[in-house]
Amino acid sequence: MTSAKGLRLVERDAGGVDLAFREDVLAGLAEAQKAVPARWFYDDRGSQLFEDITQLPEYYPTRAETEILQTRAGAIADLVGEARAVVEFGSGSSVKTPLLLSAIRPSAYVPLDIAGDFLRASSAALAAKFPGLPVYPVEADFMRRVELPAEVAGLPKLGFFPGSTIGNMIARTATDLLRTMRATLGEGAMLLIGMDLVKDEEVLLAAYDDAAGVTAQFNLNLLERINRELGGDIPIDVFAHEARWNDAFARIEMHLVAQSDVAFTVGGQRFAMRAGESIHTENSHKFTKRSAQMLLAAAGWEPCARWTDEARQFSLVLAESRPPRSAP
Ligand code: AVI
Repeated sequence: MTSAKGLRLVERDAGGVDLAFREDVLAGLAEAQKAVPARWFYDDRGSQLFEDITQLPEYYPTRAETEILQTRAGAIADLVGEARAVVEFGSGSSVKTPLLLSAIRPSAYVPLDIAGDFLRASSAALAAKFPGLPVYPVEADFMRRVELPAEVAGLPKLGFFPGSTIGNMIARTATDLLRTMRATLGEGAMLLIGMDLVKDEEVLLAAYDDAAGVTAQFNLNLLERINRELGGDIPIDVFAHEARWNDAFARIEMHLVAQSDVAFTVGGQRFAMRAGESIHTENSHKFTKRSAQMLLAAAGWEPCARWTDEARQFSLVLAESRPPRSAP
């Protein structure tokens, strides 16, 4: 169901079950390679576990991106200029967003998020930190074009999409989203986007399979959520977390691997798996300078600057919206 503002509302059955969650899980478990979309990781516990992941010694992306924002604030500000409205795709992090806002001194800040409670809490915290800055939170699904508040209609926009969340999407979905962002932001927009880099396989595997087992809990929590919300009886201790590097697609994949033959039901439907079979739960694509540029260009964004952290683990790319052109 979609509201007038393009917001996808959560549809539930009489028992309170999220229908999209049930549809995705039942369809995904019926596939030959079982899969559940990564967006279902983020219930309350999953969101807390993700916060914990960002603090892990092995998980470099958050620290590396924060370092870029800290050390390159001046260069970013020079290129972005003042008086833009910053439109953040997601509720905003308590560390990265203030770094950007203090660097570029925008005219307004518009965070977009489908999770209304979280959006309101983080917007209030941000407004308190930047007393003179108008903050206009919009509860919306940014995978679709969003109508921005009238108050920012005349301002040029800077989209902000940190964290390399774009890497959690396959190329087709990522391109669709980047195009949708152009439509949401309008003419003359710029985009500042975090894109994690291809690197040593060991470093990547450790980042997605940490020694303390927090990423394993994050992955396994999906099965707990399925059991709790969809009336499943998946024996969770039969499954083990695995992070794999898929070189052909330049991505880390997370899987939940059955350690023995297993049968279970979800929402009244029966599923069986052989030992060694997996449920694919996440892709996290890693980029090179070229592949990042290609992805952005395919969606009408022309990169104009790119920064990395000192260890060259992560990149922050600034791009400009380009109108369609047919000439070479
Ligand atoms: C949210 N996203 C960018 C994270 C990533 O690195 O792909 C999610 C994550 N999965 C396991 N660890 C972190």
